Amino acid sequence: EKAGYEHFMLKEIYEQPKVIRDTLTPRLPMDQDDVYLDGINLEKEVLEKITRIYVIACGTAYYSGLIGKELIEKYARIPVIAEVASEFRYKDPILDENTLMIVVSQSGETADTLAALRMAKKAGAHVLGVVNAVGSSISREADDVLYTWAGPEIAVASTKAYSAQLCAMYLISMKISLVLGKLSTEEFRELRAALYQLPSQVEHILENANLIEAMAKKHVNMKNVFYIGRGLDYAVAMEGALKIKEIAYLHAEPYPAGELKHGPIALIEEGSLLMGLLGQESLFDKTVSNIKEVKARGASIMAIAMEGNKEVEQVAEDVIYIPRTHWSLVPLLENIPQQLFAYYIAKNLGHDIDKPRNLAKSVTVE
Ligand code: M6R
Repeated sequence: EKAGYEHFMLKEIYEQPKVIRDTLTPRLPMDQDDVYLDGINLEKEVLEKITRIYVIACGTAYYSGLIGKELIEKYARIPVIAEVASEFRYKDPILDENTLMIVVSQSGETADTLAALRMAKKAGAHVLGVVNAVGSSISREADDVLYTWAGPEIAVASTKAYSAQLCAMYLISMKISLVLGKLSTEEFRELRAALYQLPSQVEHILENANLIEAMAKKHVNMKNVFYIGRGLDYAVAMEGALKIKEIAYLHAEPYPAGELKHGPIALIEEGSLLMGLLGQESLFDKTVSNIKEVKARGASIMAIAMEGNKEVEQVAEDVIYIPRTHWSLVPLLENIPQQLFAYYIAKNLGHDIDKPRNLAKSVTVE
């Protein structure tokens, strides 16, 4: 059932072009300037009274929610709070009938996420679930469900579900902005065209996996790794670092690039690896100068950047280029090399990749 792949994780990484296509294309017809979300009620009357949106989830699902938050705020101009479910549920959050809560969950069974959903419903908020497992508790209890069509995810480390969740975030942010008249037809078409290119762009990255495998071999003895970025790149950094912790059992920390000098740079020494995420071109120079500061302290430097930004080679010894895309879709492409890098590091270390120690696929206890 691993279809010839050595691990489910690798198989699931390679399924991503299909998963992205399945999640996006039925909802984005080429001949109509609209997003069709399976009959979900995000119509004008509902959205006009929404004053606040929460995005609630755990782990990788939460990191996809962070991208959703940025995009909804950027395009629809509605305040969005993204929070991990285990924090949210023990606070006294402002929840009422003018609140929209988006809960994100692959399994649809995560205990804290389900508890947050129930709090929201009790307070009269509208709950939209972004769920992968059909018929799961969250899908049954949410007011509306947008399914991610990732198919069953077996490996504990989430890969294809994250990509599908990002697609859902793109669709939801586009829908909300369109309904509220905040996204021009021109911008919409530009985004749709870029979305349609994602599957083949992911394929292109996967075809060059051997380069990433070689980089993993080279860096397998690192003591620790810092993932840094700004804006959407920082949200992607969090997902990259989690994957390393989870399956490689190495100390990995995501940091907003500009925060390094406020403390963590003291940890940098020889044997440290820095993964610089440079996909956001408007922030490229800023992050490059942060990388220089780290390099001067003896760390090895890897970077992920968009094709065409060759200047990165002046600071990084190993560069992974992703195909050019719209700035808001960078996270999806940038994360594919991160998945492969974590996978090959863990493989070189001889770990049980599909069933990492101390972890369960679905966290149904608090
Ligand atoms: O099933 P869920 O999406 O609700 O699970 C949330 C997290 O437990 C999950 O994403 C976890 O962080 C993954 N193992 C990360 O790879």
